[in-house]
Amino acid sequence: MSNSDYRHIGVHPVSAALGAEITGVNIAKGLSDEQFEEIRRAFFENLVIMIRDQDLSEEQQCEFAARFGKLTKSAGLKGDNPIFMVTKSADDRGNNIGGHWHADGTQMEHAPLGSALYAMQVPPYGGDTMFCNLYMAYELLSPGMKAIAEQLIVVHSGKLAYSGKGHVVQDLLDRRADMYDFEAGRIDSEHPLVRIIPETGRKVLYAPSPMAYYFKDMSMQDSEPLLRYFQHIAERAEFTCRFRWTKGALLLWDNRATYHYALNDYYGWDRIMRRVQIEGERPFGPAKPAMEPVSSPFAAVRAADPVVR
Ligand SMILES: [Fe+2]
Repeated sequence: MSNSDYRHIGVHPVSAALGAEITGVNIAKGLSDEQFEEIRRAFFENLVIMIRDQDLSEEQQCEFAARFGKLTKSAGLKGDNPIFMVTKSADDRGNNIGGHWHADGTQMEHAPLGSALYAMQVPPYGGDTMFCNLYMAYELLSPGMKAIAEQLIVVHSGKLAYSGKGHVVQDLLDRRADMYDFEAGRIDSEHPLVRIIPETGRKVLYAPSPMAYYFKDMSMQDSEPLLRYFQHIAERAEFTCRFRWTKGALLLWDNRATYHYALNDYYGWDRIMRRVQIEGERPFGPAKPAMEPVSSPFAAVRAADPVVR
């Protein structure tokens, strides 16, 4: 199977590493089963997909996302609504959430499978989102390092991130206090460094900042250099893609097999996005077995090219 094998949608890769634009789809009008199955396949094969020019209500966005799995809220988000508005106004010089390589909510035991992010208002330039491919990061390791990595378990912690001393500064915590119960987000989970994505059966190197904090049974001093090493491999330019937003674009990313980076380069312009998250399985891999049997129906198309080793 490859990106040319689709019959009911168009699939157009945006970089060699990952990411594709999907064409020939109008979500609001309804999707045939064949179209949805191909969108699902395109998602697991390309890790990030963008469908432009959609006119979606909150309900339609939730309904579409829920076909990929149960919807879930951000850790600590108050209320029952799974919708989270990612909003930055023209005069906001404050901290840009997501302005660094990261994955969302990884301190949760069932860290999100992915998110569906819908562009309601975008700046005329800037505000792109970048992604990197964690399958490639794993594949780049030498056999000896893979053997070490496969034994390691990472402690993911929301305690530092939401303490006012981590990447989310106190000022931002104060401004979001009406939306979040940060106490509820201050949780820890232990996830394997090498994780298997059930739908593809393939391994990713999963050490996402800022929650991936230290290795189980290691001190911070021992953990830090190794953790940074694994994180920075993933961030290589050859492993990335970059999406330019247009109003009405819906973007879906695999939060387990990618990191993302929200560029903060549009001061003077509003940007309003609507996000809904999909719940993931409990992460498993060689250092932490799956709790249930898994089947792997999809292939991840892209593989690390020997040229970039
Ligand atoms: Fe994020």
